[in-house]
Amino acid sequence: MPATVILGTQFGDEGKGKVTDVLSDKYDVVVRYQGGANAGHTLFIENTKIAFHHIPSGIVRNKISILGNGMVINPPQLIKEMDEASKYGFKTDNIKISRKANVVMPYHKDLDSFEELSRGNNKVGTTKQGIGPTYIDKVARTGIRMEDLLNKESLSEKLSTQLKIKRGLYNLYEQPFKYTVNELLKEYMNYGKILSHHMIDSDVYINDMLMHGKRVLLEGAQGVFLDVDHGTYPYVTSSNTTIGGAITGSGIAPQYIKRVIGIMKAYTTRVGEGPFPTELKDGIGIELQKKGHEFGTTTNRPRRCGWGDLVIVKTAVILNGITDIAITKVDTLADFDEIKLAVAYKLDGEEITHVPSSIKDMERVVPVYKKFTGWKELTDKEWNAIKKNKNSKLPKNLLIYLKFIEKYLQIPIKAVSYGPKRDQIILNPSIR
Ligand code: GDP
Ligand code: IMO
Ligand code: MG
Repeated sequence: MPATVILGTQFGDEGKGKVTDVLSDKYDVVVRYQGGANAGHTLFIENTKIAFHHIPSGIVRNKISILGNGMVINPPQLIKEMDEASKYGFKTDNIKISRKANVVMPYHKDLDSFEELSRGNNKVGTTKQGIGPTYIDKVARTGIRMEDLLNKESLSEKLSTQLKIKRGLYNLYEQPFKYTVNELLKEYMNYGKILSHHMIDSDVYINDMLMHGKRVLLEGAQGVFLDVDHGTYPYVTSSNTTIGGAITGSGIAPQYIKRVIGIMKAYTTRVGEGPFPTELKDGIGIELQKKGHEFGTTTNRPRRCGWGDLVIVKTAVILNGITDIAITKVDTLADFDEIKLAVAYKLDGEEITHVPSSIKDMERVVPVYKKFTGWKELTDKEWNAIKKNKNSKLPKNLLIYLKFIEKYLQIPIKAVSYGPKRDQIILNPSIR
């Protein structure tokens, strides 16, 4: 059976969690393949707001939910998340964890904060979840993997090496070092014990599922422009959020992936630092923030807001082979007299329609806008009528907006989300 990937086309928080929840109904397995607790995926299940940081959103439908090898996992935080999921009545036995995934240790979180402080004005604005330092250890081949939490000898050996190195780093940052091998060994072996029956060879498991005709949904975290290679480096996260990350982070072969769904928020938001060509620092930005409740799920920081940017979304489509778009938060733009969409950038007098690789250029580009008129705010009753009756149309100005996006991106919009709740979405809308 083919697999489907869901990924964010912008700077994260596009509504991946909500769309994953809606679509996972038709899948057997949902896999997170990169990132860790920097992610915050919000769902509304019968008026209850639930946010996941590690656990794939498919758990709310009791699907097999796999934390893939490409993830970095903070065990105490995951255990807390699993306890909460269990309290909501979700089947946490369905949560499986890759033995190969790397472990976020408490010193990684400290180092994330120290590094940010030392960057001063050039700080990245990380979520301080220890993501960067954990991936550094992974790539340096000194990281602790989930399977190490099951083997006292191996964990003890790795911790001894790690603590020597980390003590040196703490000295460099002039910070007191408080960890001992024995204490960490005891604490983390205990987490290993709690999580042991969830740990599997996830790549073997997922491939087996695919070979047996099961449907696999891969749920991305962050967004294309936070990708460590293709994002607005260095203002990025430390993993590959683009399609390659879905393959290496889950262990499946590319030919399985037949559908890549790009989630696009109808406008743009960004948490943390970094270039944002369509950012609105005026009253309109604040209006978007208020109407869209744009506050970070993980850190509660206000999200920077701006108009939609088709240059970045088109670049995301090309980089990832996105086959279709799910657009979210069209309700937030309703009732604006004027809405803008960036269709190109001006760079040194020249017009470009791709994201420049140089961060310096990305900081200088001036968006070229096309203007649209807002659409009437619809009540739930009116939305429901549109959903139920194939002949009734979306509001005229919204149709104009969506048609333009489809034409620009040259791919169809297969879902229109108009509210945070599970049923506030139209699948396969008629946009023609
Ligand atoms: P993710 O990280 O991509 O999963 O997105 P987040 O959950 O961090 O942020 C998206 C926010 O928008 C969440 O609070 C969702 O509940 C909410 N949301 C998702 N879709 C819609 C929508 O169509 N309209 C509105 N108003 N809110 C939405
Ligand atoms: P979801 O999955 C939005 C941002 C941080 C910071 C940069 C690096 O909910 O879309 P990190 O802690 O990863 O080292 O921070 O990336 N960031 C996100 N922004 N949504 C996310 O995840 C994010 N995860 C990280 O704000 O700018
Ligand atoms: Mg989020």
